Amino acid sequence: MQWAPRGLAMAKYLGIALLAVPLLAFAAYSLRFGVRGLGFDLTEETYIYTPGGPVTNVAIFAHMVLGGAVMVLAPLQLVGRVRARYPRLHRITGRVIITASIAVALGGLFYIGVRGTVAGPLMDLGFALYGALMLGAGLQALRFARAGDFMRHSAWALRLFVLVMGSLIYRLHYALWYSLTDGLWSNEQLVGPFDQVQYFAFYLPYLAILEVWIRRRAA
Ligand code: HEM
Repeated sequence: MQWAPRGLAMAKYLGIALLAVPLLAFAAYSLRFGVRGLGFDLTEETYIYTPGGPVTNVAIFAHMVLGGAVMVLAPLQLVGRVRARYPRLHRITGRVIITASIAVALGGLFYIGVRGTVAGPLMDLGFALYGALMLGAGLQALRFARAGDFMRHSAWALRLFVLVMGSLIYRLHYALWYSLTDGLWSNEQLVGPFDQVQYFAFYLPYLAILEVWIRRRAA
């Protein structure tokens, strides 16, 4: 009789462990790339580095450092037991995550404004919308937490969570697609049909699914 719930719990922990691997790998990549970009001249290595552009470099490489940190911290906020037992910790970590997410979004938006993305206007649009949504979700989550409106706070915090994970989902979509198709409709300049869909597909469908879930929960 007890096997079914135990099996479910086991499947849940296994699922979490499996998701943790790509998450930690990408967060570590992002952290290392960011730290190197802040400390060294990466002109030879990446087009993202702006020679003689210290402000742009700080914006985009600090964006990577903070983004990597937020990605690791954000899932901890979802653990109900931690929230219930250590509410102070939840509040402090929450503030750190929200502030860092706002800085991540601003850094990305600044970079898009100054340099533009590698694939041009349509990718600029997709990523700028992504940044604007992250900025909005962060500000709203903070606002409703301060107002003590925890239903709305939790809805905005979940939206922020999905957006933070979007950056990982973007890479996972590519890994899956390239494994399945060898990169059909995609190219190095990121302007193939698959790439163009990806400018938006790493966050909009997931936000839509979350909206349905939030509405059901409210009902
Ligand atoms: C937690 C969230 C995020 C993380 C961890 C993250 C991480 C990264 C990393 C590691 C890169 C380097 C590119 C690569 O090697 O793949 C990058 C580039 C970039 N990110 Fe983010 N990012 C996040 C959120 C955002 C947001 C919200 C925006 C939108 C404003 C954004 C805009 C950009 C842009 C425009 C680039 C340069 C793209 C290019 O032209 O190649 N990122 N980010």
